[in-house]
Amino acid sequence: MIQTDDVKLTELKNFMAEIKKRERSESQLIAILHKAQELYGYLGNDVMDEIAATMNIPTAHIWGVATFYHYFNLKPKGKHVISVCLGTACYVKGAAQILETIKKELKIAIGETTQDRFFTLEETRCLGTCGLAPVMMIDDKVYGNLTSKKVVEILHSLAHEHE
Ligand code: FES
Repeated sequence: MIQTDDVKLTELKNFMAEIKKRERSESQLIAILHKAQELYGYLGNDVMDEIAATMNIPTAHIWGVATFYHYFNLKPKGKHVISVCLGTACYVKGAAQILETIKKELKIAIGETTQDRFFTLEETRCLGTCGLAPVMMIDDKVYGNLTSKKVVEILHSLAHEHE
């Protein structure tokens, strides 16, 4: 539940108050969703209800917009976001196997986050580093020439940070 004295909520409300003064359009709703995501990291039920109530827009419409654009996160993400490249060059070099290894190691599927909120697994298209295929990105770092063994080592070394 959002606290009413929440500073993030105050900032979001101020932002919405500014937007409300202008003519309503979908791009304004998108701007609000961006702001909410910037503040909270993802768009949860409470935040969406708050936007619906303040902006007087049906919640279902807001969810429709949020789910249409893939850049909105509807669930909280982990501390580290792993993006496995499934572009052609990576696929040819065994990206599917790399993905399977990660899924098995972390016991999550694409789009999911581990229970400890440490890792989120995503798939992506060409990262522009095909020469290093197969490739994955963890946060903003690219890891190339992956093998299943190497992937497990990388995950373990990051998991150790956690201990
Ligand atoms: S296809 Fe994976 S980096 Fe280009």
